[in-house]
Amino acid sequence: MTKDFLAVSDLSVYEFHRVLDLALEVKAKPRRFRRALEGKVLSMIFEKPSLRTRMTFEVGMLQLGGEAVYLSPSDIQMGKRETPADIAHNLERWTDGIMIRTFAHSIAVDLAAAARIPVINALTDMLHPCQAMADFLTLKEKKGGLSALKLAYVGDGNNVCHSLINAAARAGTRMAVAAPKGYEPADEIVERAREEGRETGFVLDVVRNPVEAVSGADAVYTDVWASMGQESEKKKRARLFARYRVTPGLMAKAKPGAVFMHCLPAHRGEEVSAEVLDSPASVVFDQAENRLHVQKAIMLLLMGKAK
Ligand code: CP
Ligand code: NVA
Repeated sequence: MTKDFLAVSDLSVYEFHRVLDLALEVKAKPRRFRRALEGKVLSMIFEKPSLRTRMTFEVGMLQLGGEAVYLSPSDIQMGKRETPADIAHNLERWTDGIMIRTFAHSIAVDLAAAARIPVINALTDMLHPCQAMADFLTLKEKKGGLSALKLAYVGDGNNVCHSLINAAARAGTRMAVAAPKGYEPADEIVERAREEGRETGFVLDVVRNPVEAVSGADAVYTDVWASMGQESEKKKRARLFARYRVTPGLMAKAKPGAVFMHCLPAHRGEEVSAEVLDSPASVVFDQAENRLHVQKAIMLLLMGKAK
């Protein structure tokens, strides 16, 4: 296992499945792991707001017998008050792992390069790997497998989209992304995933038309149009993304029985209509629950004895 978990692409195909399998075991038999990280402490650095990520890492550590310490944006002032490397050299003296949610991905990379302890990416502007692992766990549970599926992502080619692409490349899941011009997933992510996904049979189509993307899809995924840090672009994006809303009409173009996915928080009436978000096809709270189980598995593999 790698020291850090900064990207799904840090994991080999074997490790990717190992995380999901361990997450299923942790979910089925949580009591078996209740002392697995006894005496261990996780530092949680947050430079952006959170509900799910903070709760699931903190509750996850408690359920594994360890503890977590929350550091808010005003506490650390990463890069302003101290460099990521100096922060790493402090935290590694007191705690056993670091979880970081920040802006530039390079901050998480610098922190991990300096730290002797594992660093877990809990969202950067570029990636949200823990989310994608929880999402693929959810797909596996709902659909019984991953390699024969098609996942459609509709909207902004953002951090969540990038990590889903990385996960799909490991799982061999076919993926189609529909995004407006200029908001497609980054070329470097797409090219690397296509290259690395050869061994699993991964195929990725990046298209303009949402109907084309969802056609034949087993799952339709969307995320907010303006991510944290892009608040000033909200109006402009709302205009550009208007035809990318996931509506009952768009869901009807997917495969019968297709699930609707969203990392949350969601905005009803913007990227998804309330009817879809609140419909029986929606698995958004299963995804949120699975953040807990998958992150427990990741922490066990990085910070515990389970290798
Ligand atoms: N999905 C997700 O990461 O949620 P939070 O921003 O609330 O942590
Ligand atoms: N793309 C969103 C995900 C939130 C969990 C953001 O970065 O704000």
